[in-house]
Amino acid sequence: MTGDSTAQAPRILLVVGGGIAAYKACELVRLIRKGGASVTCVVTEGGQQFVTPMTLAALSENPVYTTLWDLRNEAEMGHIQLSREADLVVVCPASADLLAKMAAGLADDLATTLILATDKPVMAVPAMNVRMWQHAATQRNVAWLRESGVEVLEPDEGPMACGEYGPGRLPEPEAIWAAVTARLGADRASHPLSGQPDFDTAPDHRPLYGRHVLVTAGPTHEPIDPVRYIANRSSGKQGFAIAAAAAEAGARVTLVAGPVALETPHGVDRIDVESAREMAEAVDGALPADVAIMVAAVADWRTRDVAGQKMKKARSGLPELVLAENPDILAGLAAGEARPGLLIGFAAETENVVDNAKAKRERKGADWIVANDVSGERQDSVMGGDHNLAHIVTAAGVETLDRMPKTELARALMARVAQHLEPDDTE
Ligand code: CTP
Repeated sequence: MTGDSTAQAPRILLVVGGGIAAYKACELVRLIRKGGASVTCVVTEGGQQFVTPMTLAALSENPVYTTLWDLRNEAEMGHIQLSREADLVVVCPASADLLAKMAAGLADDLATTLILATDKPVMAVPAMNVRMWQHAATQRNVAWLRESGVEVLEPDEGPMACGEYGPGRLPEPEAIWAAVTARLGADRASHPLSGQPDFDTAPDHRPLYGRHVLVTAGPTHEPIDPVRYIANRSSGKQGFAIAAAAAEAGARVTLVAGPVALETPHGVDRIDVESAREMAEAVDGALPADVAIMVAAVADWRTRDVAGQKMKKARSGLPELVLAENPDILAGLAAGEARPGLLIGFAAETENVVDNAKAKRERKGADWIVANDVSGERQDSVMGGDHNLAHIVTAAGVETLDRMPKTELARALMARVAQHLEPDDTE
């Protein structure tokens, strides 16, 4: 890697405010570093109640600043310089108090002084109790900040540490990192290298550089008539996480997505499709690929005939749906001329998970099958949820991974893919 690319690594000034969500700033620092950007942290007094400067210093591998007096020594960086050396200032978590100070233009500590002094874009990631978020004063402050150019992210909705439910939770660090990269990407759009995967500091950050990874994700919708369709419960989250992890690892990624309401991960080329046959066609058109990962829950059947008009209730009885089998995209790829070097299927099973996956691997001609247990109550089930428990079935054996977030499973899988492809490089 050239010195140039290191010089281009984006620099982030992370202001860690107070609140229980401050611990998630640690994960954000890890993601920023992993993404190849550098990060300098400033922690407010409130923030220090939840996360120590030493933790942030260790994770960021940079000094952490807590008070204006840290910068008193002229040999140290002055606050103006610190606020301007960054490409982006990220305030995370931004408490109600911190947002109010920002809106009012107060500068009574290091964090608020930096935010006021910077000439760089500022992004704030709010986290607070639901009523504090919904309070007219906070909403006014947020509107004011947005008007003056601060990008204020929407908080997540869900159960809160204080026991209440609603909007106010800090978004997941992956989502914040995606917003940061999008912002940096937008600001660098005029750069001649824009469009290239960002943040390549070292080859080990981008082990899949130069590879094309093809991913299918989500359900398919098989039309019955213009308003009705056959579908399944797939959310697309696991496939999208895999596409994101592959891009993070430096690959060129094509994501063929069934109908899902998910944002396209940064650096991923997305093709939206509805039905299994459209998905098969899009996959075909995206070849050749070095790796194909078929995560989509493709409908096995479609209706043989699609009604041209909405079907009406008939007095003569129930309509009959005659089904036809859909193409098996994975098996088709395995048998095709442009078979990717590494072909990975997913298997959603409700019983005999590993044995069924072993049989499926043989039957479909895949190299690996990642098997999930999709039995269980819907609320904590794999389908639609954020966690997964997977077994990776290969010719060499079965590796059972711990239950983990889908984003982590995606990275774990990509690490194995990169490792598998490595020997090719030394040929
Ligand atoms: N798959 C595919 N095309 C299909 C059906 C499935 O590419 N028409 C892929 C999926 O993306 C997944 C793998 O095949 O990678 C296994 O999917 P699964 O639904 O578990 O397999 P089925 O063939 O439907 O087997 P089962 O009889 O267990 O439903």
